[in-house]
Amino acid sequence: MEPVTIRTLQSTDAEALLTFELANREWFERHIDARDAAFYSMQGVTGHITAYLSDYAAGLWHPFVIEDAGGKIVGRANLKDIDTSGRSAEVGYRIAQSACGQGLATQAVKHLIREAQLRWNLKQLVAHVYAENIGSAKVLKRCGFLIEQAPCQEGTDQEHRFSLSI
Ligand SMILES: CC(C)(COP(=O)(O)OP(=O)(O)OC[C@H]1O[C@@H](n2cnc3c(N)ncnc32)[C@H](O)[C@@H]1OP(=O)(O)O)[C@@H](O)C(=O)NCCC(=O)NCCS
Repeated sequence: MEPVTIRTLQSTDAEALLTFELANREWFERHIDARDAAFYSMQGVTGHITAYLSDYAAGLWHPFVIEDAGGKIVGRANLKDIDTSGRSAEVGYRIAQSACGQGLATQAVKHLIREAQLRWNLKQLVAHVYAENIGSAKVLKRCGFLIEQAPCQEGTDQEHRFSLSI
């Protein structure tokens, strides 16, 4: 695997982020909830980045991008809904289809765990994964997460909740 850089999202990422999200839209929609159609434009992505960076400044969210050696965005990872009093957050991540199977999500989740611990002083992380998303569940288990809750009732999309005490 080529080395990658994991860094905080920045306001100048709009064009690269739009390229990444558009190229992988169909891939992501097979595994996670679809974004609003309005997201897929420069205006949509710029607004998305502004909102994320505002939540970052407020200590509620830590958005990261994963860049390959050429500076291309190949993935994203987030600490979401950071609760500094309850000392918990949720993790989320998505990797470009062309970059999957090289350990990038595992690397990203390990990075989120380190940041949660060292920067945000958190004690618990959770993740929600659709039951059929075997790859994502594997990443979480490999990073020490345990499955917490039985799937919901029949007829709904089954989602598993994973958690990690840190
Ligand atoms: C799930 C996802 C993040 C995994 O990213 P990745 O960089 O390929 O993950 P890693 O390489 O670190 O590990 C994935 C592991 O799952 C395995 N895997 C992937 N799909 C699998 C499947 N359908 N069945 C069995 N194993 C599978 C891979 O072989 C790999 O295991 P290995 O390292 O032992 O070979 C990526 O597929 C993705 O972004 N999917 C779309 C968005 C998404 O689902 N996000 C997570 C929401 S909870």
